[in-house]
Amino acid sequence: MMEVRAATERELDQLAQLWHDGWQEAHAQICPAELRRLRTLDSFRQRLQAAITDTRVIGPLGVPLGFCITKCDELYQIYVSAQARGSSAALALMADAEARLAKSGAEFVWLACAVGNDRAARFYEKSGWHRVGVVTYQAETSAGNFPLKVWRYEKRLT
Ligand SMILES: CC(C)(COP(=O)(O)OP(=O)(O)OC[C@H]1O[C@@H](n2cnc3c(N)ncnc32)[C@H](O)[C@@H]1OP(=O)(O)O)[C@@H](O)C(=O)NCCC(=O)NCCS
Repeated sequence: MMEVRAATERELDQLAQLWHDGWQEAHAQICPAELRRLRTLDSFRQRLQAAITDTRVIGPLGVPLGFCITKCDELYQIYVSAQARGSSAALALMADAEARLAKSGAEFVWLACAVGNDRAARFYEKSGWHRVGVVTYQAETSAGNFPLKVWRYEKRLT
């Protein structure tokens, strides 16, 4: 299993690029144009900076292969670079995130997956998460919350 470590401020640029590229790839065809316009490289950098202490990374310093952010009982973000997809990187990030959520006392955890993001959905399902329905998620943007239809996934941590 590859090592998962804390993120550092020094790799904000590389992490923001990874998040931006992954978001655009996975969501360009399935999200409203208005949201796509708000998902700029700088917007991802600002959100990462704000969440840096809750961000975990896989891959060498300055050359991240992926990252994951947890927030209370939510698996908030999980992204791996295009070249790391299909490797065990995402599974290692998921195992680390679930361990951190459990350690913080969460028993039931959840995540939001944009409706139509089939690869991510398949990944969550094989990781033991259950789709409980379609809900409206308030996606965080620089222009305030943006309502987005998502698949809500839940998991009971053991
Ligand atoms: C979501 C993500 C972290 C998963 O990591 P990954 O390395 O791609 O995951 P895996 O390859 O282990 O699993 C993906 C599964 O989806 C399958 N898959 C691939 N393309 C697919 C598609 N278009 N539709 C459905 N399933 C698909 C894969 O075959 C694999 O299933 P399998 O192991 O049963 O064969 C990664 O794809 C990613 O970063 N995507 C872009 C960002 C993103 O969407 N993040 C999640 C936001 S909610």
